[in-house]
Amino acid sequence: MELKQVIEKRMSIRSFTNEEVNESDLKEMVRRAGLAPTLNNSQPWKFIAITNKSKLKEMAELVISKLSDLPLRLDEIGQKRQLTKVEWYSTFFENAPSLIALIMKPHETDLDKSVNLSHDDIIQLRNYPDLQSAGASIQNILLSAVDLGYGACWLSGPMIAKEELQTYLNIESPWHLIAFVAIGKPFGYPNRPSKKSIDEIFTIIR
Ligand SMILES: Cc1cc2nc3c(=O)[nH]c(=O)nc-3n(C[C@H](O)[C@H](O)[C@H](O)COP(=O)(O)O)c2cc1C
Repeated sequence: MELKQVIEKRMSIRSFTNEEVNESDLKEMVRRAGLAPTLNNSQPWKFIAITNKSKLKEMAELVISKLSDLPLRLDEIGQKRQLTKVEWYSTFFENAPSLIALIMKPHETDLDKSVNLSHDDIIQLRNYPDLQSAGASIQNILLSAVDLGYGACWLSGPMIAKEELQTYLNIESPWHLIAFVAIGKPFGYPNRPSKKSIDEIFTIIR
């Protein structure tokens, strides 16, 4: 499919048919994810695909349990409804045929070697280049999913249970979870969310 068409067709898909995602297609999506730009071409990432239904369910349960432990704002009306919504948007991946987890490890930059600042201070100063790279790779997965006939959705919601999910998936330090991408054949298409016009978002400084 032409790039413009793929970009325009992509939308977050959160309901899927039961059809599996071919392992060769998952591999191709991750291959393309790995072509994304990274700071110093460090590529400090790995991608784990989870296709086992009961494992996905157990992972969703970890997220639900973590959400239920959070202190509620008792003064707000509708808090329960909000929380139910957050819960759904953070756990619908349990019904996806495939989930890709992106994990990363810290990359020591040239600045780490030359200035007396902690690695955390440096990445904060540089506006989190690790997360910027992660975003580029995830967008490659989302676009490739469309290109290969699937739908997908980026998820950061489940990261609320990051520690528990890392333990569950045997992810050991210095590796840590960044995000999930749920992938499958779309069970219909939702209404396309409206996007700002080009005039609202674009300025040229001449
Ligand atoms: C960093 C990031 C995190 C997101 N996390 C979630 C999530 O946890 N659950 C979810 O349902 N959608 C999540 N989304 C998808 C957004 O809700 C979605 O992109 C947005 O509503 C615009 O819709 P569109 O992707 O169809 O254009 C996330 C998107 C981004 C970029």
